[in-house]
Amino acid sequence: MSARHFLDVTDLSARDLNQVLDLAEADIAKLGRPLADKGVALIFEKPSNRTRHSMEMAVVQLGGHPIFTRGEEVGFDERETVEDVTRILAGYHHAIAARVFAHSVLQRMAQVSSVPIINMLSEQSHPLQAIADVLTMRQELGGLNNKTVAWVGDYNNVARSLSEACALERMHIRLGCPQGYGASASELTRLQELGAASVEQHDSAVLAAKHAHAVHTDAFVSMGQESETEKRLHDLAEFKVDAKVMAAADSNAIFMHCLPAHREVEVSGEVIDGAQSRVVLQAHNRMHAARGVLAHLMGVTI
Ligand code: CP
Repeated sequence: MSARHFLDVTDLSARDLNQVLDLAEADIAKLGRPLADKGVALIFEKPSNRTRHSMEMAVVQLGGHPIFTRGEEVGFDERETVEDVTRILAGYHHAIAARVFAHSVLQRMAQVSSVPIINMLSEQSHPLQAIADVLTMRQELGGLNNKTVAWVGDYNNVARSLSEACALERMHIRLGCPQGYGASASELTRLQELGAASVEQHDSAVLAAKHAHAVHTDAFVSMGQESETEKRLHDLAEFKVDAKVMAAADSNAIFMHCLPAHREVEVSGEVIDGAQSRVVLQAHNRMHAARGVLAHLMGVTI
């Protein structure tokens, strides 16, 4: 199958990533209408606010028609196989996007699809979020070159995709994660190989945030981890991003969170609702990022 897919940030080269960011910021009129009279299937096995709305609007802005379907209606491997669903939808649509429990479902879709498959979040990665995150940092930090990003908390799907994007942008990456919640040795090596200016992992939120230009975190309990709530809240309690953590960062540092957020759990109210927070811009950039990714997959260049 010759279609280009977007399952992970690393499906893009560093040059592709910058092209996607440029497409995301370009006037919509310059992109043409590459999805005119075309459909895009959006399948959600998990709830969503930002991803659904931003993807639907991005498809509309490129001239297309999004069709939302809940995971239980599709019934991957229950009602019919992942492969049968994909081959059929590929005959109706110009791209298929899915939010899934298992990343392997996306990989199986990509193996049989004649149209692009787009990851709208799996347990492994959240690449559309990462595009919006680096876009926001590029805008707010005056570029990404030689900038330092800190991730505080669980090195989860959002952290993994963000780190990959920051590595491609040759940024300095600082992780602050408790024992058992960090990146593996092979993941840290991979970030260096992708181009990160430096990679450090600490078991302290304050140390990770030191001199950072952007401090990111996410919910301590993600969708599908509800049965681990008590243990995760206990293990991650020291990793809340509060004024003390932000004080360790650069004096002009921004705070970022992919949302939804839990005030006084992973972030204090004064930080997420304070002057350093960019979470609303970050969420709004989800739409521009989605439009950039779709345009890139449709072969648009500027
Ligand atoms: N950040 C994010 O993916 O938000 P939703 O779960 O609301 O789509």
